[in-house]
Amino acid sequence: YWVVDKTVDNLSSTEEILQAAHHIQQNHVIAFPTETVYGLGGNAQSDEAVNRIFNAKGRPSDNPLIVHISAQEQLEQYVQEIPDQARRLMEAFWPGPLTIVFRHNGTLSTKVTAGLNTVAVRMPDHPVALALIEAADRPIAAPSANRSGRPSPTTATHVHDDLSGRIAGIVDGGPTGIGVESTVVDCSSEQVMILRPGGVTKEALEEVVGQVDVDPALIEINQAPRSPGMKYTHYAPTAPLILVDGDVDYFCEQIIRAQDDGQRVGALITNEYCGMTGANKEVLMGVSTELSTIAQHLYDSLRSFGENEVDVIFAQVFTDSHLGSAIMNRLTKAAGGTVRRQ
Ligand code: TXA
Ligand code: MG
Repeated sequence: YWVVDKTVDNLSSTEEILQAAHHIQQNHVIAFPTETVYGLGGNAQSDEAVNRIFNAKGRPSDNPLIVHISAQEQLEQYVQEIPDQARRLMEAFWPGPLTIVFRHNGTLSTKVTAGLNTVAVRMPDHPVALALIEAADRPIAAPSANRSGRPSPTTATHVHDDLSGRIAGIVDGGPTGIGVESTVVDCSSEQVMILRPGGVTKEALEEVVGQVDVDPALIEINQAPRSPGMKYTHYAPTAPLILVDGDVDYFCEQIIRAQDDGQRVGALITNEYCGMTGANKEVLMGVSTELSTIAQHLYDSLRSFGENEVDVIFAQVFTDSHLGSAIMNRLTKAAGGTVRRQ
């Protein structure tokens, strides 16, 4: 652990950042905070470093990584061209939780791109992340710093729980602000397409580039997703999760029925349901209308059900617009698609 105070004036030259950067230069892997979730970073130009990332996470090697940069000029070194739509989006949202897929020019490790002819790039909006990229003087490939299949980490403790002993270190910059990962978009055709909903909403993108498509695989099942990572099991808590789409009475009914069957029940709920569900354990995520608070607490909430604490978890659903799209995408995955409708 290196605890870093993000308010320091010249972070790039603080002792902790320099140590972490040195590890990156040696092709070792380091966890670091971004504004979305913690990333597990390694030199994106080194096969050795990228292999270490995949090994530490237990991640399938056909799932490409996001390359993190700290300045727009870096981008030109790795991609063939920057389409107009991409330029507009970069201007509007970088640094920030938006990842853009470009055609690459072959200068990055082929392990980063999992052999695809495209590369996903983003500039994180976090002083510690930017300082680390600058001090390392390398593009940093970084997936979320969780064991594959687990909820993404939003604190250094989450990273420690999943990866302790498997990585060279963790830079602790406190809890992350947004709480869900970046939005991944493809700008290779005229119409921008969302491959993964995330911190930048579809509505916000449309204000900049007009109508935006959503990868059909995100809406319909039985479609191969364009973003390879979207096909894997994700964000799984320690007990099976079931989404409940209905009113509070219907929610409570599910819980009573499960308890009648002898199950210990967890409830993943908004503050409005507090104390009403009769569940063996209630975890509150915030007020239902404050989607940014829900997003912030989502992964920590999924992680807060301990091993063997409950047998099943019921979760409330959210609106599918604005940040709700990212929240529902993650919850649906965590539930393996299981929804009970009133
Ligand atoms: O907020 C975030 O994006 C975090 C922080 C650490 O930056 N990172 C993150 O990385 O979520 P990861 O590896 O967990 O998710 C990367 C996603 C995956 O769904 C992957 O399939 C997709 O981006 N991706 C990467 N390269 C791609 C490409 N060339 N084309 C399409 N999708 C790509
Ligand atoms: Mg991930």
